[in-house]
Amino acid sequence: MTDHATTAEGTPAGKPTSASRTTLSHIMTASETNLLGTVHGGVIMKLADDAAGAVAGRHSEGPAVTASMDEMVFLEPVRVGDLVHVRAQCNWTGRSSMEIGVRVMAERWNESTPETQVGSAYLVFTAIDEDGKPRTVPPVIPETERDERRYQEAQIRRTHRLARRRAIRELREHRQAEGIDAA
Ligand SMILES: CC(C)(COP(=O)(O)OP(=O)(O)OC[C@H]1O[C@@H](n2cnc3c(N)ncnc32)[C@H](O)[C@@H]1OP(=O)(O)O)[C@@H](O)C(=O)NCCC(=O)NCCS
Repeated sequence: MTDHATTAEGTPAGKPTSASRTTLSHIMTASETNLLGTVHGGVIMKLADDAAGAVAGRHSEGPAVTASMDEMVFLEPVRVGDLVHVRAQCNWTGRSSMEIGVRVMAERWNESTPETQVGSAYLVFTAIDEDGKPRTVPPVIPETERDERRYQEAQIRRTHRLARRRAIRELREHRQAEGIDAA
């Protein structure tokens, strides 16, 4: 694992979005289809996880694990022979976590049309040390207006994720305390 460059205060120096942006490309094969003959959603999810993992590893300069994946959206079916490009970038960073945005594009093998967006997702990766414990990541530095918008939207998703987790935990604790659900 590489040591991060640090500021005078000892916190990791920021890294621009472009330093870790990644595209993973893959030609879809017949072994990746569902019963309808189009590409299985799980195959696309794995590609999204792979591309996001590459971004998280690049940004944090070391190992990072998938903590969550949300808002996976499938907009159009992907077909055998399509060339799929999974474009991923670090939208936001916390102390040890990073939100990675993924956009899935397809070039249709039998059409000379521009690539079509077929899906998108947001994944949270947590950087970990040798003991599997969360470690600090450098803050991401948005470079363009679009990066800045994505940063702000990621902050909203982060707030909602934490609020949802807290609300569900409190509900479960309340039901257990009332004796409604067994521990
Ligand atoms: C992700 C993991 C490292 C978090 O460890 P933890 O001891 O719960 O650590 P914390 O609660 O301190 O969370 C660390 C960071 O991850 C974030 N995080 C943890 N769980 C999360 C979740 N479900 N969704 C979003 N973010 C999450 C926290 O918000 C925190 O972010 P911050 O440091 O930027 O504020 C741990 O749960 C783990 O190892 N999970 C398994 C990961 C894995 O194996 N993935 C592959 C799937 S097979």
